[in-house]
Amino acid sequence: MTRVLVCAPTHFGVEYVINPWMTGNIGAASAHRARQQWDALVAILGDLAEVAWIEPGPGLPDMCFAANGGFALDGRFVPATFSVSQRAPEVARYREWAEAAGFEVVDIGDEAAFEGEGDALWWPRPSEPVLCAGYGVRSDLECHRALAERLRVAVVSLRLVDRRFYHLDTCFVPLPNGGVVYYPPAFDQRSRRLVQSLAPKELRIEVGAEDAEAFACNAIVLGNTVIANHASTELRRRLAAWEYDVVITPLTEFMKAGGAAKCLTLLLDQHLPPDFDQRDAPPSPIRSERVALEGHLLDDGVLARGIDIGDSAGGSVRLERFHAGARRDQPSHARLSVSAPDAGLLGKILDRMRAEVGGVGRTTLRVGVARDDATLGAAPRDGVAPEDFCCSTIYPTDVRVDGRWVRVANQRMDAAILVERRGDSVSARCALPRDLRRGDTVVCGEGGVRTQAPGARPATDEFAFMSSSASSERRVEGQVEELALEMRRARARHGRIVVVAGPVVVHTGGGPHLARLVRDGYVQALLGGNALAVHDLETCLYGTSLGVDLQRGAGVRGGHRHHLRTINRVRAAGSIAAAVEAGFVDTGIMYECVRANVPFSLAGSIRDDGPLPDTEMDLLKAQADYARLLAGADLVLMLSTMLHAIGVGNMTPAGVRLACVDINPAVVTKLADRGSVESTGIVTDVGLFLKLLAMRLGEGAEPAAGRTAAN
Ligand code: ARG
Repeated sequence: MTRVLVCAPTHFGVEYVINPWMTGNIGAASAHRARQQWDALVAILGDLAEVAWIEPGPGLPDMCFAANGGFALDGRFVPATFSVSQRAPEVARYREWAEAAGFEVVDIGDEAAFEGEGDALWWPRPSEPVLCAGYGVRSDLECHRALAERLRVAVVSLRLVDRRFYHLDTCFVPLPNGGVVYYPPAFDQRSRRLVQSLAPKELRIEVGAEDAEAFACNAIVLGNTVIANHASTELRRRLAAWEYDVVITPLTEFMKAGGAAKCLTLLLDQHLPPDFDQRDAPPSPIRSERVALEGHLLDDGVLARGIDIGDSAGGSVRLERFHAGARRDQPSHARLSVSAPDAGLLGKILDRMRAEVGGVGRTTLRVGVARDDATLGAAPRDGVAPEDFCCSTIYPTDVRVDGRWVRVANQRMDAAILVERRGDSVSARCALPRDLRRGDTVVCGEGGVRTQAPGARPATDEFAFMSSSASSERRVEGQVEELALEMRRARARHGRIVVVAGPVVVHTGGGPHLARLVRDGYVQALLGGNALAVHDLETCLYGTSLGVDLQRGAGVRGGHRHHLRTINRVRAAGSIAAAVEAGFVDTGIMYECVRANVPFSLAGSIRDDGPLPDTEMDLLKAQADYARLLAGADLVLMLSTMLHAIGVGNMTPAGVRLACVDINPAVVTKLADRGSVESTGIVTDVGLFLKLLAMRLGEGAEPAAGRTAAN
């Protein structure tokens, strides 16, 4: 037999007002009649269930409303956290009772209010059991997330909008046949739609005001019996059609305190179906974020406005901290915890707060000021991150997990942050969403994440022209000299220089100079696309680049065939290395790479001819290959390729020196604008640049030129 907990109304009375029903009723409830009504209810219960008793506490006039003591599921008991101070002392008694009765007591923290079964109704639907939870008046939305996580069940959050129906159990009766009896006006539109999605029309009984106001929806369901203070003929008829027996027992004295049948009982034997795998419980979609406000919060009315924005949009806002300025001219500080049933709605609420609160007077608003742990979500599918996953930047980042800050490894831009737990140790690293596996733990939202963005540029009093590092009017010679010095140093300490180059390097005559840098040990990896290698090899085989004679700068007859012939020959050989091996490729950038064992990666694109056998047409593989070759780079030299340079920029953490050379200032600025002080932009012709650089690197003499056009 199922068990039901009750608490005798020994100390019952209306002694304060914490809900609209109590207004005007202080001292109005008759203790004697209340006891009679309660005894009658318990007698009905006794026929249907095993009745367990908890000792009533003196001075606790509402303790007889046992539903609010906590929530029981599968041998676990979650004690309440009251939003009203008058009832807070009841909690210790209910907790103690549950422990003594052998329940595993599960705490969900006392920050967010949770008023027990009053706002948490287990719905053992035949299709899928769910926990329906109310918020908006007494319980906070945040507790739903905690319930979902601690109990590992799906929680459906329903927002209450009529203060008379302040607990979910005053307006909502989930039935074991999958049906539901409820009072729609007590809910907001989103919640009404949710209820409709959970129960089709033929399984919904929508009661009117007459039933609702007489507490018909405050009903106890035990097997096939529904017990309530009242039910209209229509309601009885509909329940009878579903084969429910309706038992009516008057509870008018308790209604003066805002409660009736359901409020007076706590169901102790609610269970998950035996085949229910809790590992399959979906992660809670509820998201919270801290918002810090500073300004004349009361005078400007922004505090009230902020709370109102959150509440009216369907979220839940908790004022965690408020500190008023001591004098009129001093600002106040407040910290809000803003929650929403899903990430999308939270984003909208925060945007509205930023716009409508952050902009008022001198109010400043900061989001994600949490001292708390980062919010972790689970990847819903392979290759898909949770909706509000935290997007990484190039800057050193720490995330707070289990109260400790953890440094994120593999820092790069535009990735998710994957958190991995092994025993007691926690690690975090950047991972592309597409590489995530279902169930991977990923950092969500903005809280608990700290990024070391670069400090503001040191303030100088002096106004300087052309202080931007990407000005085309700076002497290129000076920039090349600095770069050459750095490269020499890097080579001396066996550092890693990675060159990203576009085909323009070859067209502008820079090929032999870059080849020389490779030969002289200034390049530890080469990244490019198909064209870089094609034109370099074409120069070797025909002395042309896309048919243009590099010595004379003019097209040669039939030159348009050269690059395809080149590709064809290399394809015949099998690879660039094989072409070198065969001896028909004997100069150039690719030749030197093969000779010096410098790894290269050629990433394919839609416009590639051929491609060369070495070109990786699977872009995901190419990206991975680039990332592998970039790991540990000290200096990245980007030579006239917007596509590959920006790709590389995204994969490179702050702290790595980038030098970007392009004739187009827009490309250079784009990279310099990563905001890192480590990037230098040089706006110039890349062929000339390479010539200068090769000279500066100490050799002085002109490098050997490629062979002349063979036509
Ligand atoms: N006076 C009580 C209160 O406002 C009534 C509680 C009713 N309980 C319920 N589960 N709806 O807290």
